[in-house]
Formats: sequence, structure tokens, C-alpha cells
Amino acid sequence: MSQSSSIEFRLQPGGSLQGRLRVPGDKSISHRAIMLGSLAEGTTEISGFLEGEDSLATLNAFRQMGVEIEGPQQGRVRIQGVGMNGLCAPDGPLDLGNSGTSMRLLSGLLAGQGFEVTLIGDDSLSKRPMRRVTEPLAQMGAEINSTPKGTAPLVIRPVDGLRGLDYALPVASAQVKSCLLLAGLYADGETCVTEPAPTRDHTERMLRGFGYEVRQQGQRVCLSGGGRLSACSIDVPADISSAAFFLVGASIAPGSDLTLEHVGINPTRDGVINILRLMGADIQVLNPRDVGGEPVADLRVRAAPLKGIRIPEDQVPLAIDEFPALFIAAACAEGETLLTGAEELRVKESDRIQVMADGLQTLGIDAKPTADGMRIRGGQLGAGAIQSHGDHRIAMAFALAALRANGEIRIADCANVNTSFPGFAQAAAGLGLQIVEVR
Ligand code: S3P
Repeated sequence: MSQSSSIEFRLQPGGSLQGRLRVPGDKSISHRAIMLGSLAEGTTEISGFLEGEDSLATLNAFRQMGVEIEGPQQGRVRIQGVGMNGLCAPDGPLDLGNSGTSMRLLSGLLAGQGFEVTLIGDDSLSKRPMRRVTEPLAQMGAEINSTPKGTAPLVIRPVDGLRGLDYALPVASAQVKSCLLLAGLYADGETCVTEPAPTRDHTERMLRGFGYEVRQQGQRVCLSGGGRLSACSIDVPADISSAAFFLVGASIAPGSDLTLEHVGINPTRDGVINILRLMGADIQVLNPRDVGGEPVADLRVRAAPLKGIRIPEDQVPLAIDEFPALFIAAACAEGETLLTGAEELRVKESDRIQVMADGLQTLGIDAKPTADGMRIRGGQLGAGAIQSHGDHRIAMAFALAALRANGEIRIADCANVNTSFPGFAQAAAGLGLQIVEVR
């Protein structure tokens, strides 16, 4: 985090991607496994856990609240659950680094505890909007203080009890949905969340895996407070959001043939496959299987000529983290690609619309940012120096762009790649990307 400006990626142009790779574990599922494993009764064993800074921030937060957690060791974590009411007050603030998921989900989970706790984060996280969680939590009876701008630090004070809430989400956000469901575990009566469009449902699936009843009717999901969680084993699939960079890289680099192993293809996360296929990508879903309630498959991707498309808005929440990579695909496609309905991209780890448009323009691509998306005309990518603004996914997206550039690409401020994809540069180099990390 603090050293985020000290790593630069340098990429030589051209090449192709070949071979097989299992990218690190799913970030969203890793966070949730620590949270529910900590609150469960019994010992939860996790394999495939993402040893990235974001999920480690969640792990450390629970250690600070008295949970005994062994590992991670090669993706294995063992948690001695303390039960729903077994967390202890931490000694100091919980530092969640760059991780929006940790802060938003924990604010719900901690709103109904019997102790005060303060959540802090790095510069990027301290600018991200938190009213989307603090306002509905206040309706449940929670007492949470933020800055006047509605940002972290969040100070969560103990209250007499939370009330169930029936809430219609104003934005399609799995983080807000999950926050309220986790608060609902501690609330009197029923908590229901209705989403405007489907978002990732890992919280719902995992709650059921821990034996908690979650009721779903269409876009509305409900649970009743006061239940218990029973420990279980969790095999975390490889993160489709990390695989996405290679799905794009292999699609745009002539001669590529790559297989990504054990990738989570939950239908609330597979927008990147759908959008790339609409653009003409050659992606095969091989050996589909179910792993602990989450669909998993191997993805074989071969280079294919891409064409520009109008991205269907219903795919936006299903590919919300994959747009940096998809914008690179659009820059390599023939014709124009238009994205609309994606204003949420402006409040991610960086303003991903502006930062990607700036970077693409630096490389000579006609990219026009709009309030809620971008218009990109495919063309020849040139050389250039890119500023990632400490956003892991911006850094990785431009790294793959080198496969189709005609000169060197340098990307500044890349240390935060470790938040979601430790070992990215080595893994990418092993497949054929000409990348070096300069410290
Ligand atoms: C996440 C939900 C998404 C996503 C984030 C992880 C989650 O955020 O962008 O990287 O684990 O629930 P929003 O729910 O705010 O869109």
C-alpha cells in the first residue's frame, strides 16, 4: 500500500500467450470465507485462499478481534470459529488497506456487535463512498460515524439491537447487499434486500453452505436474524477477475492458446466471457463442475479477431471488475465499442473510466470517456508511459496491452497488484508476456 509507487512494470511489445495457468483464488469468496468461518461454530478449513493484501486485510482484522486463524500456507487456512457472539474488541482500528469489500462487508457484520470498532483504509479507500452502507445500516438502528463526506474512517458504536430492514438497493452492488445481509444475521426479524439487477451472490451461496437459511424470490433475498453458522470446508476457485486479463491477452495476441484452470464461472460473474464472445473471442468452457456450491471450469482461449460492439447493459454488473481488461480488448477490436450504464466504474479503486481513457489516449487510441462509460475505436496501440493510480486492475490491463503494442509500455505505481494477484508478473512472463518489474 504505502510502497505502491515503488514498482514499475516494463513491457516489451508483441508475443503470444501459451500454456496452462491456475490464477490465484477468488477475492470475493476469500473475504467471505474468513468472515463466515470466524463466526461459525467449529473449525473451517479453506483451500485456494487468495494470499493477496485485500483478503489478508480481512484475515488480520478477524485475528485482531480474537479469532485463531492458522495460515495461510499455500492457500490453506484453518479458522477456529468463535460463534456469532464470540468476537472481541480489537486493540486499535482495523486497517483494511485498499479493500472496499472488507470495509463494506465488515461495517454490516460489526454493526450489531457489543463493542466499538474503527475501520480505516489507505488513501484510495478513504475516498470511496460509504453512505451506501451507513445509511441503510442506520435504518436498522446502527450507529456509525463517517467523515462529513461520508467516507472512512468509520466508527461503529455498539447499540441495543438492530432491526430487520426491507431495502431496495439504489445501485446494483454486491457489497451493499452483502453488508446488509451480514447485519441482518444480528437483527430482529427479517432482513430483505432487493437488487435492481443481479450481482455476485457468493454471500448467499456461502451462508447456505454454512447451514444458514437464505430465501430468494427473483431479485429479492431475505434472511432472519438470530441463527447460527456451522463450520465447513471451502475450496476457493481461481478468480475470474484475475483470469480476465489472460482471456483478453490470449484473445488479442495472434497465435495464443491458453488454458486457465479451475476458474469460478458463477453466472453472476461471467459477464467477461459473454462480452468477449460477443466481440468474437474464442473461449471454450471445459470440464464444468460444482465445487462447494460454486460452478467452476477450465477456460481455453485462443486468439481471434475481435470486433467492436455495444456492450449490453445487463452484462455490466456481471463484469464490473473486468472493464479495464475489456477496454484493452476494445482498443484491439475492429470498429467501435460503446459502454453505457457503468457509472459505478468511477468509484472503484480509481476512477476507472477516466484513468483507462487517459492511458488508452497515451497509447494513441481514440477513447472518449462519458459520464457512465466509454466509446473506444480500435486501432494500433503505441508505446507510452501509463499511470495506474495505484489501481491493480488498471496496471494489469495495460500490461496485457503490450501484446499488441508497437513499442515499450511502462506502467507506474504497480505495487497494489498484490492486493488481488500476487505473482502476476511472474505468472504472465511464464505464459509469454515480456514483462519485468522494476523496484
Ligand atoms: C465485490 C463487489 C463489487 C466488486 C468488488 C468486489 C464483492 O463491488 O467491484 O471488487 O466482493 O462483493 P460493488 O458491489 O460495489 O459493485
